[in-house]
Amino acid sequence: MTTMELETTAKMMVAEGKGILAIDESTPTIKKRFDSINVESTEENRRAYRDLLITNPDSNKYISGMILYDETIRQSTSDGTPFAKKLTNDGIMPGIKVDTGAKDFALHSNEKITEGLDGLRERLAEYKNLGAKFAKWRAVITIGDKIPTNACIDANAHALARYAGLCQEIGIVPMVEPEVLMDADNTIERCYDITEKTLSALFSNLKNQDVNIAHTILKTNMVISGKKCPVQANIEEVAERTVECLLKNVPSELAGIVFLSGGQSAKLATAHLNAMNVNNKDLPWPLSFSYGRALQEPCLKIWGGNSANIEAAQKGLLHREKCNGLACKGEYNSKMEDAA
Ligand code: 13P
Repeated sequence: MTTMELETTAKMMVAEGKGILAIDESTPTIKKRFDSINVESTEENRRAYRDLLITNPDSNKYISGMILYDETIRQSTSDGTPFAKKLTNDGIMPGIKVDTGAKDFALHSNEKITEGLDGLRERLAEYKNLGAKFAKWRAVITIGDKIPTNACIDANAHALARYAGLCQEIGIVPMVEPEVLMDADNTIERCYDITEKTLSALFSNLKNQDVNIAHTILKTNMVISGKKCPVQANIEEVAERTVECLLKNVPSELAGIVFLSGGQSAKLATAHLNAMNVNNKDLPWPLSFSYGRALQEPCLKIWGGNSANIEAAQKGLLHREKCNGLACKGEYNSKMEDAA
């Protein structure tokens, strides 16, 4: 039963032309997003904002799942339907962020280790009862002077595998996310090398701990130039290097790969995904999206905390969802942005 459940969920998460909307910002992170539009981060404002994302008509054409935060999975729509139930009714799978954040890694300056394993078996059981079908755990790998260290990559990969095993044990699909940050001044080559090391450590730990790769979704960064690098690789190069790195380091039996946007602009994140799918029709796994900022940014700005703007904000979100849904099939064209 669990095996079939895992297989079905994993396949549905990366169904053709669909991807994941990440709305699992922790309370401190959503406060930063709200600060950018001058909206106070109260529980009701957070609920109202997530309400508009979750109840957007027609999202289910392009969105297979949404990742919720602990507070969000316990909240309800304005008419009193629990968010997880509303999503399930609309054919969108509720997911849940289960790590408790990236903390300073002892004895390693400027590096992070993700916490949240203690009590995770019990928390997963509760989330399952609340309707969660998949769970996310994010590890953060920082590029800098003499970092990342092998110790940091290994410790995070080990924790990701422990979390993934606990998820599969209870019938929840793990979305394993080792994020190599793109904020530094590194070249695309350095990003390639670090992503390669990270993925290699991740899959070796998953294998070692008997996690079923066929029932796992990888959420990863693209291979890209650091934001502060004076030479920025173009769209074709990012697409090529990313696919090359994945083909070399990701087992073919993996259920699917989804990308994080990591601070790329909304349009660029879509263009990168499209370029990967236009040029590679025969990959062993679907390449899709699990964007947070790149899907939400236009919508957040249009909303601005004003309920009169909900419909316009939802239209802005649906447009990004559609563009990315098409990018999963290599059918996106930047002219669609002008038409909108
Ligand atoms: P971004 O797409 O904004 O990077 O967020 C995705 C995510 O869920 C990071 O964990």
